[in-house]
Formats: sequence, structure tokens, C-alpha cells
Amino acid sequence: MPALTTTSDGFLLHGEPFRIISGALHYFRVHPDQWTDRLRKARLMGLNTVETYLPWNLHEPEPGTLVLDGLLDLPRFLRLAQAEGLHVLLRPGPYICAEWDGGGLPAWLVSDPDIRLRTSDPRFTDAFDRYLDQLLPPLLPHLAANGGPVIAVQVENEYGAYGDDTAYLAHVEEALRTRGVEELLFTCDQANAKHLAAGSLPGTVSGGTFGGRVDEHLAALRAHRPEGPLFCSEFWIGWFDHWGGPHHTRSAENAAADLDRLLAAGASVNIYMFHGGTNFGFTNGANHHHTYAPTVTSYDYDAALAESGDPGPKYHAFRDVIARYAPVPDEPAPAPSPKLPLTTVALDRRAPLLPHLRTLEGAVRGEDPVTMDELGAPTGYALYRTTVPAAGDGLLHFAGGVGDRAQVFVDGASVGVLERERHDETLPVRVPYAGATLEVLVENQGGVNYGPRIGAPKGLLGPVSFQGTVLHGWECRPVPLDDLEALPFEPSEATSDAVPAFHRGTFEVETPADTFLALPGWTKGQAWVNGFHLGRYWNRGPQHTLYVPGPVLRPGANDLVLLELHATTGTRVQLTDTPDLGPENHS
Ligand code: GLA
Repeated sequence: MPALTTTSDGFLLHGEPFRIISGALHYFRVHPDQWTDRLRKARLMGLNTVETYLPWNLHEPEPGTLVLDGLLDLPRFLRLAQAEGLHVLLRPGPYICAEWDGGGLPAWLVSDPDIRLRTSDPRFTDAFDRYLDQLLPPLLPHLAANGGPVIAVQVENEYGAYGDDTAYLAHVEEALRTRGVEELLFTCDQANAKHLAAGSLPGTVSGGTFGGRVDEHLAALRAHRPEGPLFCSEFWIGWFDHWGGPHHTRSAENAAADLDRLLAAGASVNIYMFHGGTNFGFTNGANHHHTYAPTVTSYDYDAALAESGDPGPKYHAFRDVIARYAPVPDEPAPAPSPKLPLTTVALDRRAPLLPHLRTLEGAVRGEDPVTMDELGAPTGYALYRTTVPAAGDGLLHFAGGVGDRAQVFVDGASVGVLERERHDETLPVRVPYAGATLEVLVENQGGVNYGPRIGAPKGLLGPVSFQGTVLHGWECRPVPLDDLEALPFEPSEATSDAVPAFHRGTFEVETPADTFLALPGWTKGQAWVNGFHLGRYWNRGPQHTLYVPGPVLRPGANDLVLLELHATTGTRVQLTDTPDLGPENHS
């Protein structure tokens, strides 16, 4: 018997009437030393439950290898949630959307390009089953049936927006059940008749995702399921941002009024997001509806807790609303955390990228370029090199475009950029002499996480030609970024040459605390503090600062490394006490 059961219009927990008042908090977007803090703040806002997805792509980076430590130590997160008195909703996918690289589906799944993702295709379901075989044993002790905090588990995610393979949904349900998951199961779909019909499963709760028009969406849920709990499984109280787009925000008053409507209607709710956190490293996803649009590094989401964990206006407004319907702890609301004093960091050592890569082993040689997926290194960057047999002015043509952004160099000098976002396939170049070197540095800017383009390949996607003649004899290599210590840094004042380079500096910290990295004069690249990969920066905005979690810093000397892909007008960066996520687009 699961701990959480349903009645004709609600839930019972251990037989007692229970309303889920939950907030989304993805452990993999928050530094593990901050989990306790965020969970405590969830409880203090009046939440009785937190919800998290599980990113399959991080938990199983290679087939058969389960990672469950550090940022991915889900059993620890569940223990901490329980210690805080919170219940947990788990959303193991396989697909999670979530503005997460590939919607959480591991890139290695598409090593068979014909695989039909999120269907009954046994190549897909077998891979998921094998993952569950490893994943579930360490999680089962944390299910409510075994005394843990997990009271419900989601099957797939918004499947009604994607497919209609009911046998596949039933397979996911069965895969969980046969491996010992006894808890209540639910699905989660956009709250309209079509999606609910295609994405729900008999015998499981149908949750709905929406941000407004509460009465209309609850009516759609009720029409779909005349009996049972009303559950808004994602109540969108903010939104995510794309590079080059606005920074989305939503007023606290507006979101709180809709929360009030939901609770007044007797519904259960999962606030998406209670705390968004950060797409650290290369974990951000992308959308592709007509055009490719990668998601920024911050997943602040204009949530109740800001990216740095500070309570925002929504935190206080939601707490007031919740207090009208449920007990809220009689403790003061949390205060913002201290921030590091303003600090300027001089980046006085430099290591140009392309000459360094030329010294490394490990290139794959072939007649034609291979994709990053075929190189076995789908995230980050790859460098492609060949020679051009003919001199002169002409068009360089990349058949099938690039995935996702390619910087082109002739004899080491930058000659232009192609972007998937603009559907670029050609670049005019001047080749000074026959036999000049052509190098193409390609960035995977994030795997599409919604719709039919999930799993689309990255890197160079087809033959490359110059003046109509296909170029052969390629050397293709991933760009290793896991050992920054191995980079050949040299002292440098240079700022002027526009070539990709690593830049490094040290700065002193007295007492570690949260801070925000501002990069005035820098263009586009990656940032690491003490080896922790903060993620991508881009002067295009809207995001102009990167969140640096306090636990990444240490008393004394700290190390900052940037990989700048283009140019910088200065040699300094700032650590500031205020985030700059861009001009707001209020809704
Ligand atoms: C849907 C998905 C979530 C997320 C939101 C938008 O509801 O289920 O994973 O992508 O949209 O933030």
C-alpha cells in the first residue's frame, strides 16, 4: 500500500487528508553544500514537499556507469530533505525537459542514429531498464514504503506534447513497479484535453502544467479525470531565458494571486521553480522551434529563491498565501546570505587554445569530418583541421550547417563564425595560398530539450567544400577541458589578438561567500573558479554575471580561469555582490 493514496477529490497520506504543497528544487543545479540551506528555506516558506527531476545523462554518462556522488548524490539529498521534515516527489524521466541538455537523455543513446527516443523501441526501453537496474537499488530505501521521504514518482514528462505510444508509457510504469517502486505514480502534461489524453496512464494521477488561467486549467484537469485529486504538477511562477532574448520575470503579486486561486480550489501544487539554481558547466538545454535557441547559464527562473538562494518577493508573498491554507513554521523568514566584498581579479597569464591543441594526441583522422557524438565527446567543443588545396576567394560551404556555432580560422587567423541559430551554411573566405590550414572550432551550445529535435548531432554535420570542391583529410578532436592545470600558461599583458585563449588569475578571499562574476570587455566563453565549471558567458546577454557559489571559494588564494573564444578589451574581471541577469521582460 503506497503512503500517498487518492480519494474522489484529494490525497490521503498514511490515511489522513493531505494536500501537496511542493516546490521544485533540482539538486543537480545547486552546489551540494547548499542543499541543506535551500531545503530549510523550502520548509520555512510553508512547503511540505519538494520535487526534483533526475538527469539520466549525468547519472549515466557512459552506458553502464552510474554516478551518484557530489552534485549527483541523490540519496544524500533525500536524507537531507527527510531530516528537514519534507516529503519528496521524484521525476526520474527517462525524459525530463527542464531546459536541461538533451532533456536529460544521454547523448550516447543516439550513437544508433535510428533509435526512436521516448518510444517502445527496445533500443530505448532496454537502455532505460538497465539504468533503472542500477539506479533504483540505492534509491528504494528512500521511498515512503521503506521509511523514506519519497511519496510519489512521475512517469515520463509531458509525454502528451510529444507522442502517443501508450505502450511506452505503460512500459515506464511497469519498469518502476517491477523494480520495487510501490509509491503513487503520476504523469504530468500541459493542462489541455489533447495532451492529457495522450500523456496520462490509467490508474495513475494526471498532473497538469500551467502558469495562469487557473480556473480554466483546473476545469480541463477535472474534465479529463472527473474524480481524484486536482494536481498542478508544475505551477510556472517564472520562466527561463535564451541567449539574445529578454530576461523573463513575473510579478510576485500576480503569481501569488494564482497560487491563492489554486489553493482555494482545493488543488495540490508543485511550484516550478521554488529555487531554479544554475546550469553549471555544459548542462543547459536549448529550444528549436523554427530556429535554434540555447538557454542561458542561470536558471534563476525568477523563482521564490533567487539563484543565490536569497528569498525574493515571491518567497514572502507565497509564504503569506500558504499560511492561509496550511501551517507555516513560526520562525522568521530567512535573510539574504552575505556576499563577498567587491573584488577585482587581474587575469595576467594566458594560454592560446589552438597552438595548445595542436600539441595534443588523440585526434581522429579520416577523409571526412565526424560529428562530436561520433568523437565520443558530445558536449563542449571540438576542433576540426584540414588543408585547403586551392588558393583564392571563395565560399566555404558546410553541408547540413553546424552544431551549433563554428569559428573558422585560416592559418590560425579568425575569418568568421557560422551559427545554427541563423541557419548559416556558408562563409566567404580568402585562402592565401594552396595548402593553407583550415581550422574550425565548434561549440555544442546545448542539446535541444523539447520537441522532435532532441538528440540532434553536434559538431560538423556533413562535408565541407571550398569553391565547390569537397575538402578531405580531416583531423577531428574533442577539446579537453578537465585538466586546466595542464595548460601552458605564460605571463601576458596582451589583450589585442582575437584568438581563443585561456586566461588565468588569482584572487584573495578572507571569508568565502557567494559572489557574481562580471566580465566587462570579455566576449564569449567559459569560466572556472578553483576548477569548478561555472558555465558559459556571452556578452550578448541577457545574462551578464555568473553565479559563484560560496562553497567553491576558499580562504586565501583562489584561482580563476576563462576560456575566451574571441577577444577582450581588458585583462580584469569583477566579483560583485549583485547579479545582472539582463533587462526584465515583466509579465
Ligand atoms: C514544462 C516541462 C518542464 C520545463 C517547463 C518550462 O512544463 O515539463 O521540464 O521545461 O516546461 O520551464
